[in-house]
Amino acid sequence: MEDKIRVLLTEEEVNARISEVASAISKDYEGKKLHLICILKGGVFFTCELAKRLTVPVSLDFMSVSSYGSGTQSSGVVRIIKDLDEPLEGKNVLIVEDIIDSGRTLSYLIEVLKQRNPASIELCTLLDKPERRVKKQVQVKYTCFTIPDEFVVGYGLDYDQKYRNLPYIGVVEL
Ligand code: IMP
Ligand code: MG
Repeated sequence: MEDKIRVLLTEEEVNARISEVASAISKDYEGKKLHLICILKGGVFFTCELAKRLTVPVSLDFMSVSSYGSGTQSSGVVRIIKDLDEPLEGKNVLIVEDIIDSGRTLSYLIEVLKQRNPASIELCTLLDKPERRVKKQVQVKYTCFTIPDEFVVGYGLDYDQKYRNLPYIGVVEL
């Protein structure tokens, strides 16, 4: 069975916006090195596109987390499936996520990573669904798009592990 997917943001729109955000980040970190932390798996497409457009020196690391919860709700109890390869001590860290929904995953993760003494730690997300936020204290420094409360796929985001490779952002019409 094929799902029907309605295009919300085209590939051109997404790429143009990533370029804008990359310019802003490059400006903010001018003269510094930036350590990107890609949150697997959803953040991987966005991280690559963002990293290619940054003009400051970049290093990359990857982390995989899973939040226990029923169905589409995350619980806030986050399990680290794959930890970072390198320490964060003294680094300017930018966490790169696909989407901030309730904010539970990120609020936990930021607290964990702060313990590792980075010089700075900020958050960058491709999509933000502020209507769904439970953890209001999560500060997102860079957001590409704010979207309504709809379930989206593509550009790394999945529905049951499908559609991550779509080059645009779409809504699954259930
Ligand atoms: P949070 O802890 O509720 O903020 O969970 C965020 C995570 O839920 C994201 O990293 C995604 O993996 C997943 N998620 C939330 N909304 C969507 C969506 O619309 N499409 C696909 N995955 C989503
Ligand atoms: Mg995710």
